[in-house]
Amino acid sequence: MERPENCILVIFGASGDLTRRKLVPGLFNLYRRNLLPEGFAIYGLGRTELDDTSFRESMREAIHTFVKEENLAEKDVSAFIDNLYYQTMNIRDLDAYIEMKRRLDDISSQKNTGGNYVFYMSTPPRLFGPITEGLAHCKMNEDIAGESWRRLIVEKPFGYDLETARELNETLHKNFQEEQIYRIDHYLGKETVQNMLVFRFANGLFEPLWNRNYIEYVEITSAESIGVGSRGGYYDGSGALRDMFQNHLLQVVGMIAMEPPAKFEATAVRNETIKVFNSLRPIPENEVGKYVIKGQYTESKVRGEAVKGYRDEEGVPDDSKTATYVAVKFFVDNWRWGGVPFFVRTGKCLPTRVTEAVIHFKQTPHQLFGKPSEECYQCNQLIIRIQPDEGILMKFNMKLPGSGFEVRTVNMDFHYSDLSNVYVPQAYERLLLDCMLGDATLYARGDAVEACWEFVDPILKAWENDGDIKVYGYPAGTWGPTAARELFDIPEGDWRYPCKNLAEDGEYCEL
Ligand code: BG6
Repeated sequence: MERPENCILVIFGASGDLTRRKLVPGLFNLYRRNLLPEGFAIYGLGRTELDDTSFRESMREAIHTFVKEENLAEKDVSAFIDNLYYQTMNIRDLDAYIEMKRRLDDISSQKNTGGNYVFYMSTPPRLFGPITEGLAHCKMNEDIAGESWRRLIVEKPFGYDLETARELNETLHKNFQEEQIYRIDHYLGKETVQNMLVFRFANGLFEPLWNRNYIEYVEITSAESIGVGSRGGYYDGSGALRDMFQNHLLQVVGMIAMEPPAKFEATAVRNETIKVFNSLRPIPENEVGKYVIKGQYTESKVRGEAVKGYRDEEGVPDDSKTATYVAVKFFVDNWRWGGVPFFVRTGKCLPTRVTEAVIHFKQTPHQLFGKPSEECYQCNQLIIRIQPDEGILMKFNMKLPGSGFEVRTVNMDFHYSDLSNVYVPQAYERLLLDCMLGDATLYARGDAVEACWEFVDPILKAWENDGDIKVYGYPAGTWGPTAARELFDIPEGDWRYPCKNLAEDGEYCEL
C-alpha cells in the first residue's frame, strides 16, 4: 500500500475524547502497519495544561485502552509516542498561532516534513472560524505550489440546519480552498460501506437488477442498543435526524443509489453522490407527519435490568421533544429509482446494535407454487450488513425436500470474518490515511452537505412549527414506535427485524 509523503498532523482539541479514543489509536495502527510517512509528527493543541511528556503519557494510556489487542509491544508504543508534541493554547488567541508556527517549523526541519500539514479540527464548530483565521494569520492555510500542501479535516456537525451549514462553508472557504477541505463522516470509512461500491461496480450480476424494474423498496436501519449516556446535553440539541440521518445515513443512501462513476477518483465519485442528494424528493413541511416518524425512548426493563427513559437522562429536560428515533420514507426522483420508496430508520435504545441496508426485490410476476407463506413474501432480499458481523446475505427461495413443492426461504451468507488474517481497519484509520494521501473520495464535499441539509430542513421546520406532529414514546429495548410500520403502503411491506423486542414492560405512548 502507498505511504503518504512526510507530513505533520496538527490536532486542535487534542485533549478531547476523540483524540484519545479514535485518532491516536488509529494513527498508532497505521504506524504499526508501516503506513505512516517516514517523517511524521502529531502536534496536539488544546486548552488543558499539558506538555509533550504528559501528553505522550496520556496517549500511551489511550493506546492501551482503545487499541483492542492483547500484548501490545511496549517498544512500538514508545517509539510511536516519541513523535507526539503538545502546546497548551487558547484557540482564539491569534498570537498563539505564531508560537505554534515557530515550533512546527522546528519539528518540520527535524522530521523533514517539508511544510506539509494536515490540520484536524476536533473542536466544537464555534471554533472552526477562529482556527481557520488563526492558520491564515500565521500563513499556514495555503498550499505552496509544487512545494508543500495544507489540508484541513473538519469534524461534524457540519452545521445545524441549511442556513448554518452554508455559513460554515463560507467560513471555511474564506481561508481554505474546497480541495483542501476534508469533511469527515466516519460512516464512509467503514469497510462495508466502501464495499457497496465494489459490490455494485465490480460485479456484473447485480447492477442490471439495481433499479425500479426489479427493486420493490430499499430499507436502511442503523440501530443502537445504548441510550445517550452522558451525552444528553449535546444530544438534546441535536437528535437522531441531525446526529445520524442527515450525515451518515444519507451518505449510505448516496452509495446505494448513485450511478456508476466513470473513474474511481474523488471528483467523479462525489459528482455522482451529489446527483442522488439533488434528486431526493423534498418532503413538504405540511406532509412531514406522513413521511417521518419521530420517537423517543421511555423507561423499561430489558433482560431484567431497568433502563432509564430519555427524559431521565443527565442533561435532558423533562419535557424534551428531541427524537431519539426517526424513520423516514422518501423517494429518489430519477430514472433509476422513480417510484421506489426508501425507508431509513435509526434509533437509540433499540434491541440490538446493527447497521444494515436491505434491498427488497420484487416478487415473481406469477406465483407458480401457490401463495407464498408469510416468510416468503419478502424472499429476495439482499442484506448488506455494515456492522457488526460485517458481510452480505442473500435470501432466496428453495424447495423443501420431499413430496410436493413447498417453498422455503434460505440464506446465502458471506461474513468478512471468514476472510481469515485480513486486517479490517477502523474507519478513522482509513480516513486519516486517505487525507494524508490527498484522496478525498470518502470525504463529504461542501455542496453535498448542503444538499443533504436542503432535504432535511423542512422536516426540522415542521417539527419546530407544527404542534400536531406526534412524538411517539417507545419502551427502551423495542424496535421503536409501531407507527413506523405505517409508513409502508406496500402489501406485506415492513421493516426487517434482526431480533425480537427485548423490553419486558413499558408502554408505547404519545409523548
Ligand atoms: C456518531 C453519533 O456520529 O455516530 C453518535 O454522534 C452515534 O450518536 C455514532 O452513536 C454511531 O456510530 P457507529 O460507528 O457506532 O455506528
